[in-house]
Amino acid sequence: MGPVEAILASGAKVGVFFQPTNRIKEVKSLSQLNKYFWKYKYRLLLGVAFVAINNYFGAEAKLYVGKGTDYVADLIKHGGSFSSTANKELLFFGFLVIGLVLLQGVFMFLMRQMIIVMSRLIEYDSKNEIFNQYQLLDQSFFKRNNTGDLMNRISEDVSRVRMYTGPAMMYIANTLGSFFFTIPYMFNINIRLTLIILSPMPLVVISIWYVSSLINRRSTEVQRQLSGISTFAQETFSGIRVMKAYAREEKINEQFGEQTQKYRSLFLRLVKTEGAFQPLVLLLVGMSNILAIYFGGMAYIHGEIKPGEIITLLMFINGLIWPIASLGWVTSLVQRAAASQERINQFLHTKPDIKGGPLHPDMLHGQISFKNVSLTYPDSGIKALKHISFEVATGKSLAIVGRTGSGKSTIAALITRLYDSTEGEVLLDGKPIQDYSLESLRGSIGYVPQEVFLFSDTIANNILFVKDMISSSDREEMISAAKAAAIHDGIMEFPDGYETMLGERGITLSGGQKQRISMARAFVKEPKVLIFDDCLSAVDTETEELILQNLEEIMKDKTTVIISHRISSVKNCDHILVLEDGSVAEEGNHDTLLKLNGIYAGMHRQQLLENELKE
Ligand SMILES: Nc1ncnc2c1ncn2[C@@H]1O[C@H](COP(=O)(O)OP(=O)(O)O)[C@@H](O)[C@H]1O
Ligand SMILES: [Mg+2]
Repeated sequence: MGPVEAILASGAKVGVFFQPTNRIKEVKSLSQLNKYFWKYKYRLLLGVAFVAINNYFGAEAKLYVGKGTDYVADLIKHGGSFSSTANKELLFFGFLVIGLVLLQGVFMFLMRQMIIVMSRLIEYDSKNEIFNQYQLLDQSFFKRNNTGDLMNRISEDVSRVRMYTGPAMMYIANTLGSFFFTIPYMFNINIRLTLIILSPMPLVVISIWYVSSLINRRSTEVQRQLSGISTFAQETFSGIRVMKAYAREEKINEQFGEQTQKYRSLFLRLVKTEGAFQPLVLLLVGMSNILAIYFGGMAYIHGEIKPGEIITLLMFINGLIWPIASLGWVTSLVQRAAASQERINQFLHTKPDIKGGPLHPDMLHGQISFKNVSLTYPDSGIKALKHISFEVATGKSLAIVGRTGSGKSTIAALITRLYDSTEGEVLLDGKPIQDYSLESLRGSIGYVPQEVFLFSDTIANNILFVKDMISSSDREEMISAAKAAAIHDGIMEFPDGYETMLGERGITLSGGQKQRISMARAFVKEPKVLIFDDCLSAVDTETEELILQNLEEIMKDKTTVIISHRISSVKNCDHILVLEDGSVAEEGNHDTLLKLNGIYAGMHRQQLLENELKE
């Protein structure tokens, strides 16, 4: 790197710290939350009112401490003794101060109740908003963004934002409130003395600001290092088998040691800065206190002020320190919340590309036609389908065979509208697929995807996934669906039958068992269109035969699309498409394709041979 580039590069780094336009844009992102403040406006207003009342009682308590002191000072000055009236007077001051402080406490509690509870309600609302948005977004959105990122925005970012709507709001209100109920009171006591006492304030504010931004920067570094360590540890544990198999323990230990070492030194640096913060604040307060006592004493000697008033001024100035000190912390809370909200907004403002149309039939009939359809995947630019045309009449069956990557699953994705074609038209019952509402469309289709997904739940709940409420007739349907998918007997062998838990803390099923449960899920729905995407691949040939026989009964009045790489699964279908690299290479029924003696016939010969070899 030449000197010029080096300077440019360092300039770019400096730019990271000074990006005022970015900061402003980020802080603007918080306006997304204004609708929630409006929703909870009474809570917010009450909260602010309680902040004011709390500060008012605090200020009054300080005044009465001073007045009590002056009463005693007067008594001594005039040579009076503690009579019973004096005693009563003093008790009065004592109880008044205690009462005022208690009231201050009550309103502090109420202010937290209002503002912190409001922030929790906003957190709840915005989590729901984000989750609903996620559900609306397309498959392609989930391809572009990783799961960790999605999870972070709904959990961590939302809780950072809550620090703004809750604590930051409360502290800002409290700092304003304490200034409002302190400065006028102080001026009222003695203008000249107040100005003297407040003179170190600009220095206090600037130095607190400086130190707290240093603390923020360092704690961000610590956080980043910490999350690096957890990612490292997590990867090590998930890859533990590979790690052990290659005997890499020592090397990994070494790397982990380096990471923790770095974490330690970063943390120590942070702790040192933090350690300087409190003494600094106390030092600066001390300056104000010394000024108050010295100049207050002088003023007393000149008879310009009463001793109790000096005490009140001291209490006021000390009461201001923590509200000021909290400002630095509050700024960092707001900045972090703004950055988080900016990330959340990116997702909230994403519009789904695939939207439903106006037609909303209860059920489609199930006639499918593709007219010169092409699809280029938006994110990878892969041309997965090229000028595909075919038609399936209601109640008929279509098979799609072809090599991996030839575009079979893509056809299924177009029929379920997980994607829209980039060229040509997909028609259902003679109308463009885009005209139907997504509920109507997907409600009419039973789709068994290539990648089986089962929830960590009971087998029954997995099969009855589409039902909102489960009745006893649903159970019967479930059992007949499981029988059709040739999995009922298998399920009954499990200790809890249909109530057996699957997933993380439940039992692990074989690939074929998973596929069959996933098929049963589609059967229960009783759709008009059934799409099986390579879902017999992990099932042995005998079970396959059984399921195919059952399918004949189920398929009778339904349109079926069977995607497979096995000829045995598709030979009885009415029409067969052979895909090659996104185009239709051959089509016809089993017999005509065999006669053609092309790709299909070749696959057939090869699979017959394989079966013979197995036996
Ligand atoms: N969601 C996707 N985004 C981008 N490219 C994809 C996506 N799904 C599939 N592809 C690509 O499109 C081509 C066809 O894939 P696919 O339809 O899954 O083939 P098949 O089901 O026949 O194995 C492949 O090259 C694949 O990499
Ligand atoms: Mg596929």
